[in-house]
Amino acid sequence: MIESTMTRAARARLAIGCMVTAGLCCSWSATPVAAEPTLQGIMQGLRDDLAAIVDGMLVEDYGRIARASIAIAAHPPIPASQNALIRQDLGPRMPDFALLDQQVHGQALSMKKAADERNLAGVSNAYQSVLSTCLACHIAFRERLVAVLRPPQ
Ligand code: HEC
Repeated sequence: MIESTMTRAARARLAIGCMVTAGLCCSWSATPVAAEPTLQGIMQGLRDDLAAIVDGMLVEDYGRIARASIAIAAHPPIPASQNALIRQDLGPRMPDFALLDQQVHGQALSMKKAADERNLAGVSNAYQSVLSTCLACHIAFRERLVAVLRPPQ
């Protein structure tokens, strides 16, 4: 058995490796806490998905486009603590922010539909809409929200 031949150090390394693979927080405390994605982390995921779509369009890999479109439409929710800060900062403009997010979801689903139909022109149109909405939100809100969510130390 592997277990009986493992050194203590090897067992410790394996345990830490498992914690990291399981996505648990890497602080060395006795009780690891599950890491919640921040808005910045969610956004970095959206960028990767969008890059996969550009690549998928160029080589007409419709499966790749469909998977990345679903990933965009089903991105994780903003963590409650950050959502509260956003709500507090935007006040009456919060519905504008929420609407842009909803629009990205709808446009990503149109992109998935066009990919399922192997319709490159349709994918391209949906892609332009998604990108315009990403940027519309950044133009309106990104800078002020970075100041609230990640104030300079
Ligand atoms: C409803 C508003 C909104 C929409 C829609 C939106 N973003 Fe963002 N995005 C933000 C905010 C706010 C930040 C700043 C978050 C931070 O830095 O903590 C951000 C930051 C980013 C960043 C920078 C992350 C970094 O490492 O600093 C990327 C990349 C990004 N968004 C990609 C996208 C993509 C791709 C889309 C569309 C698929 C998108 N965003 C749609 C609000 C939005």
